[in-house]
Amino acid sequence: MKNTEIAGTVSWECPSNIAIVKYWGKHGRQLPRNTSVSLTLSEAKTRTSVSYQVKEEKGVSIDFLFEGVTNEAFSAKIKKFLSSIVEEMPFIQSYHLQISSQNTFPHSSGIASSASAMAALVMCLCDIERIGKGESSIDFNRASYFARLGSGSASRSVLPHVATWGQHADIEGSSDLYAIEINDVDDVFKGFHDDILIISSEEKSVSSTAGHALMDHNPYAEARYRQAQKNTSLLLQAMKEGDLEAFGQIAEDEAMTLHALMMCSDPSYVLMKPHTLKAIEEIRSYRKMTSHPVYFTLDAGPNIHLLYPDHIAHDIAPWIEMALKPLCVDGRIIRDTVGIGPKNIADA
Ligand code: DP6
Repeated sequence: MKNTEIAGTVSWECPSNIAIVKYWGKHGRQLPRNTSVSLTLSEAKTRTSVSYQVKEEKGVSIDFLFEGVTNEAFSAKIKKFLSSIVEEMPFIQSYHLQISSQNTFPHSSGIASSASAMAALVMCLCDIERIGKGESSIDFNRASYFARLGSGSASRSVLPHVATWGQHADIEGSSDLYAIEINDVDDVFKGFHDDILIISSEEKSVSSTAGHALMDHNPYAEARYRQAQKNTSLLLQAMKEGDLEAFGQIAEDEAMTLHALMMCSDPSYVLMKPHTLKAIEEIRSYRKMTSHPVYFTLDAGPNIHLLYPDHIAHDIAPWIEMALKPLCVDGRIIRDTVGIGPKNIADA
C-alpha cells in the first residue's frame, strides 16, 4: 500500500453560487423538479481540510471543527451525508476523517453556506479518492454528483462561471444527477458583480429543505416547473448574446416567483423583510431613471443580490452607498463577483 493511502491531508476552497433560474422543488434522491442556472461566486467561500488516517474497524468515523470549534449539529449532518454515500465511495469507511471548515463570509450574515460547504467537503473526498486510485485529476461530474447529494445547489458550486443543473431539452449533456458548465456565454457575465445586501442576518424561519418539501402540495407547482424550463432557455440565449435586459428581467421574475411560491404554500410564509421591498423599489426606480443595467435576485431569504456588469461598477457605486447601504444591517454589503470555482489550497 502506498503511503498516501495510509494517511494524508487534502484542502480545498469552494465558492457559493447564486441561482438566476431557481431550483425549488425536488423528489427522489435529491433530484430537481426543474433545471436551474447559476453564477459561481468568488468571495463567499468555504475552506475545508480533511486529514485521513487508515483505521482497522470499518464504519464512518469523523471529527468536525467549524471555525475552530466542535459543532454537533453540522457534525451530525456531515456524518449522515457520508453514511448515505459509502456504497459509492467505500474508502470513507476505512479512514478516520478529521474535517475542519471555515467560511470567508461572516458567520452571522444570513448567507446560505450549504452550497459552498458541501462542495468544499466533496472536493476533498474526491481528492482523497483520486490519490488512492493514483489518478491525475478529479472527475468534476462525479464531484458535482456527490455535492448534489449533500445539498442540491452545491452541485453547481464545483464549476466555474455559469453552471446548470437538471435535464433540459435545449442543453446537451445536462442531467438531473450533476451540474455542468455553460460555456457559450458572453464575456460580460464572467466579470459580473453580485453585491449581497445584508438586509437581515437572522436565521431563516423556514429552511430551504423544508421549503422544497412544501412544493409537493403547492397548487402552482406544475406551472412553476414549466416556467423554469422556459426561463432556462430564454436565459441561456440572453447570456449567449450578452443581452443584459433580458438577463435582468428573467433574474427578477425568478426571484419574485420563488418568494410568491413561499407565500402561497401551505403553511404560507414570508422571508422578505420591509427593507427587501424598499431595496427592490429603489433598484427599479434607479434603473428606470438612469437606464443602467442593474438588477436584483433573491435566494431563499431576505437579502438582495444586486447584479450588474463591471463596466457600470464605478458609476453606480455612489448610489449603492447612498440609497442601498442604509437599508442593510450595520451597512453590511458583501461585494462578490463571478469566479472560477473550486481551488486546491493544499500547498497554501
Ligand atoms: C432558493 O440547495 O439549499 O437557493 O437541496 O435541500 O440542500 P437542499 O436545498 P438548497 O436549495 C437552494 C434553493 C435556492 C435556489 C437555488 O440555489 O437554486
